[in-house]
Amino acid sequence: MKVLVIGGGGREHALCWAIRRSARVSEVVCAPGNGGIASVARCVAVDQKDLSDLLRVVESERPDLTVVGPELPLALGLVDAMMERGLRVFGPTREAAMLETSKGYAKRFMQRHTIPTAAYAVCESRQVAQESLEMFHLPVVIKADGLAGGKGVLICEDKDAAEQAIADLFSGQLLGSAEKNVVIEEHLTGEELSLLVLSDGKHAVPLVPAQDHKRIGEGDTGPNTGGMGAYSTDTMLDAQMGEWILHHIAQKAVDGMAAEETPFVGVLYCGLMMTAKGPMVLEFNARFGDPETQAILPRLESDLVDALEACVEGRLSETEFRWTPGASACVVAASAGYPGTYETGKLIAGLEEAARVPGVEVFHAGTMLEGGQFRTNGGRVLGVTAAGDTLEEALGSVYEAMGRISFEGMVYRRDIGHRALEGRAPGKS
Ligand code: AMP
Ligand code: GLY
Repeated sequence: MKVLVIGGGGREHALCWAIRRSARVSEVVCAPGNGGIASVARCVAVDQKDLSDLLRVVESERPDLTVVGPELPLALGLVDAMMERGLRVFGPTREAAMLETSKGYAKRFMQRHTIPTAAYAVCESRQVAQESLEMFHLPVVIKADGLAGGKGVLICEDKDAAEQAIADLFSGQLLGSAEKNVVIEEHLTGEELSLLVLSDGKHAVPLVPAQDHKRIGEGDTGPNTGGMGAYSTDTMLDAQMGEWILHHIAQKAVDGMAAEETPFVGVLYCGLMMTAKGPMVLEFNARFGDPETQAILPRLESDLVDALEACVEGRLSETEFRWTPGASACVVAASAGYPGTYETGKLIAGLEEAARVPGVEVFHAGTMLEGGQFRTNGGRVLGVTAAGDTLEEALGSVYEAMGRISFEGMVYRRDIGHRALEGRAPGKS
């Protein structure tokens, strides 16, 4: 069969790599892909922000299955448009994707279905937001309602900062366009955990858990990024806590969406805070996480395509998942300046040497291939990944491979997985 993957980052490289391993797949196409993805898939150009261009690619390629990587095509209604055309696609409809694309929608949904989450207020004007602020203790979290590429969440230590954040979000000063709604949230503390579940609209089946490292700096300092690394271990979430999250959060969300006649088909990313009072939802995403996916998929032994197809066909409960025991880690190499401005076009050396470290896969996030050579083409450039019997082993392989790679301005965190190594596993019940 022929599979089309939409997107062009590290997550999509990992998806194409895993899809290609399926014995049933004869061709993988990626739109738009990137320099590294070209080694596992045929890349075709597309404007991911343009629904008609996405449909043009889908109609000319006529894949047997399409897998949507990023959130924007979901928000544009790509899945709805493909379903109308009778084309098989893995991902939620535009309405179901509102669990990610509108934080106000997600919070109200969680309240309706008693899914644990921080206390909140959805505010439709600056004045209402200023008044609602009085109900919250400090620090307080101020969030843009809509998609903000990781820039829409502000943790405010004092009232002045919160008022400023509210003003900046409503005026468009912060994100470039004015928000219609702003969400104010109680500040939660604890360890964060990403639990991704596949859903066929009725059943939720968890993937192995992961933890992301969102800040640019070691020790979790500095501004938020798209993710500087992730890891997954067998011990980060014990069976009892895993069951609790599945029952009280993931399956409840899937049931709630079905009951509201917006069934959720695809991958539901539950971004959790493991608080002293139990797990609470920080956010839902309607897609695979990046870089969590790069850490999760190398642990999957069973066929990813079988699982994705089972979601589309509503028979996920019959599907068997097999995972390699142990751990995995993905460390991101970024361009100097990221998440702010950065230069591109830098020559990347040492990729072949890095790939020779046993068990290592180098997923490309932002690269281009020019005259047979890879150059940087984004803020996040590479995701160096390895699995191992233990987290220490996986990290050892990753950092050995990373040491063989170089490009001008290359930055990466040397402390990925530090919480687990310090014995601070997020999900012990
Ligand atoms: P979100 O996009 O909603 O997941 O927020 C991005 C990041 O902001 C999360 O990964 C957390 O680190 C932090 N965050 C979001 N909401 C809260 C909250 N209510 N309390 C504490 N931290 C939060
Ligand atoms: N790793 C965070 C995200 O994918 O949104």
